[in-house]
Amino acid sequence: MDLGLQDRVAIVLASSKGLGRAVALGLAREGARVAICARTRENLRKTEAEIRERTGAEVLSLSLDVTLRESQRTLVEETLRRFGRIDILVNNAGGPPAGQFLQLPETAWQEALNLNLLSTVFMTREVVPHMIPRKWGRIVNITSFSVKQPIDHLILSNMARAGVVGFAKTLASELAPHNILVNNVCPGVFGTDRHFELARGRAEKSGTSLEQYLQEQAKSIPLGRFGEPAEFADLVVFLASERASYITGTTLQIDGGVIRSLL
Ligand SMILES: NC(=O)c1ccc[n+]([C@@H]2O[C@H](COP(=O)([O-])OP(=O)(O)OC[C@H]3O[C@@H](n4cnc5c(N)ncnc54)[C@H](OP(=O)(O)O)[C@@H]3O)[C@@H](O)[C@H]2O)c1
Repeated sequence: MDLGLQDRVAIVLASSKGLGRAVALGLAREGARVAICARTRENLRKTEAEIRERTGAEVLSLSLDVTLRESQRTLVEETLRRFGRIDILVNNAGGPPAGQFLQLPETAWQEALNLNLLSTVFMTREVVPHMIPRKWGRIVNITSFSVKQPIDHLILSNMARAGVVGFAKTLASELAPHNILVNNVCPGVFGTDRHFELARGRAEKSGTSLEQYLQEQAKSIPLGRFGEPAEFADLVVFLASERASYITGTTLQIDGGVIRSLL
């Protein structure tokens, strides 16, 4: 299938590692030019070089924090300066800390909203005015399976990501006349640094080893294993492509069967 991504320009947020990195690589493989970002310059440079080597794609990398308004503007300005347009925006960020309601400090709530809801809102706000005149756009928000089945001890994440779903569903209708499509993708359990960090905390709490915890966790997934970031990327790349032209306002899980609800 020709995805029609040749020469498209994509911004992928939080993309030096894990799911964001896999998505940037996947888009580059299909011929897109990509702008990537993360806070830690060293990892970012490594990913930039790797994407270029493996795909031959043009890559712009900027070391910045996606929660800062100034950084969001810089990312858009620099992408336009380098590539002349923006066709695709993949909203992503790190995850907020785990913890129970009364144990989390008051500041954690605003920080989680900034990281997992408002970075998506404000990046979208920066990018959409550049998509409207071209009558083409794809916005894909990386959330979590928690938007369909909240995860215990991740109340900050559960709260902020639910807001993304409401935001995206409303925006999908508003932007449909401009042929700008807005969708959410919900990862289940993928073997990334974020996953191992959370798993380490849970294993410690339950008094088991990390290995034992990971084995049990994999067994609880109907497909019996964690997902590969490249598998996740395949779905996002499709949604960002020409071929997804009649899909908007959806919230799609990619979770090996983890979510037990009907819808
Ligand atoms: N992996 C899973 O199983 C899973 C499941 C459900 C939901 N999710 C969610 O999916 C998202 C991606 O997860 P992941 O597993 O790919 O995480 P990861 O492997 O820890 O990678 C996170 C990436 O985001 C960057 N980042 C974090 N905070 C940032 C910020 N404020 N500004 C710019 N870049 C930032 C990190 O680089 P720097 O630290 O250098 O900035 C890194 O490149 C997270 O929101 C996570 O909670 C993941």
